[in-house]
Amino acid sequence: MAHLLIIGAGGVGSVVTQKCARMRDVFDTVVLASRTLEKCEKIAATADRPVAVEQVDADHADAVATLIDKHQSDLVINVALPYQDLSIMEGCLKAGAHYLDTANYEPPDEAKFCYKWQWAYHERFEKAGLMALLGCGFDPGATNVFTAYLRKHHFDRIETVDILDCNAGEHGHPFATNFNPEINIREITAPGRYREDGEWITTAPLAVHRPFDFPRIGEREMYLMYHEEMESLTRHFPEIRRMRFLMTFSQEYLTHLRVLQNVGMTRIDPVPFRGHDIVPLQFLKALLPDPATLGETYRGKTNIGVLARGTKEGQDRAVYVYNVCEHQHAYKDTRSQAVSYTTGVPAAIGAELMVRGIWRGMGVFNVEQMDPDPFMERMGPMGLPVEVAIPDKDLLAQ
Ligand SMILES: NC(=O)c1ccc[n+]([C@@H]2O[C@H](COP(=O)([O-])OP(=O)(O)OC[C@H]3O[C@@H](n4cnc5c(N)ncnc54)[C@H](OP(=O)(O)O)[C@@H]3O)[C@@H](O)[C@H]2O)c1
Repeated sequence: MAHLLIIGAGGVGSVVTQKCARMRDVFDTVVLASRTLEKCEKIAATADRPVAVEQVDADHADAVATLIDKHQSDLVINVALPYQDLSIMEGCLKAGAHYLDTANYEPPDEAKFCYKWQWAYHERFEKAGLMALLGCGFDPGATNVFTAYLRKHHFDRIETVDILDCNAGEHGHPFATNFNPEINIREITAPGRYREDGEWITTAPLAVHRPFDFPRIGEREMYLMYHEEMESLTRHFPEIRRMRFLMTFSQEYLTHLRVLQNVGMTRIDPVPFRGHDIVPLQFLKALLPDPATLGETYRGKTNIGVLARGTKEGQDRAVYVYNVCEHQHAYKDTRSQAVSYTTGVPAAIGAELMVRGIWRGMGVFNVEQMDPDPFMERMGPMGLPVEVAIPDKDLLAQ
């Protein structure tokens, strides 16, 4: 049994709070802290048991440490923004708590996310006898587990991995992002990057695309992007010769994005305006629908998975491991949409595995370094059933 502190009262924080509050045999107490207290109160009111709420500015490690001390927290789940990763990790070290997050650190003034800053904490966590688990959402998170699971059970050798992310849902707004708009747009407008034969190959943003026939959804156009799990997966599984990440977008979404980019609304540098400095992307976030509010009207499904190709017992094979999540299922369970849900549920599973000591270690770890089986066993019962498909032979050649 453990005392849990969750930081970040957004779309993902809401799912994590509700799911963890239901795990009465794992967490004695659940505390939700965020920048805006009212958002914590609103989420706490949806939980199945009392959840304490706190206001915190998690940019300050001391404030995080004070909160951990006050609530005797054993574990902190960070579902605030990537900008807070390092200060929350510092707070955990100061006060002696384990750490879990769903997105790697990114400096606010540069759209450049990577693991080097957080991996640099390994020795300090190790010395303190603490565990930090990085990237335990869906992608990264479940996709890292799927890769480890494929490697353990389906292949003797994996040659290539494609991580595929399809949201075929309709929310009824002309343009909205499914998680924090600032983080989402920074990611999508960055150059694409994939790994082949030990090299990173850079492509123009969203320039490379191809169709894929997603099980239970149908054919959708996918666009090659850079995504953070490729950095850790290629480090931990260097034998994988090629790794790519591809995500689907509707033409409507891409047209809006192009216009916003062309007029400068996705810029992240401050622009002087009537005596104030305004960051256009932050202003755009204030105009767009809050992703946490999309659930009620969202219809359709997501399909996110890992398609691996390689060999087993001398035979070539391709295997696709994936989850299909209905937006309405997510809404029924936690009053959220499927993107918050598919992120929050794996974070709750990871937290449970850490508290039970099933996933253990001292230092900083990525999810694929843990045994995938206990995580896979929990996915279905927690609301995200996993399916395995042997795709068409043609895929072997691609
Ligand atoms: N791995 C995955 O599959 C995956 C998928 C989607 C999202 N994510 C990650 O999940 C995280 C949460 O996403 P989301 O869509 O829930 O975002 P969100 O709705 O914007 O929520 C973020 C929350 O963090 C709070 N916050 C921001 N700065 C803070 C600070 N300095 N101190 C305390 N709280 C602060 C915000 O407070 P205010 O309400 O006051 O602004 C907000 O409540 C992000 O890091 C995102 O990258 C991961």
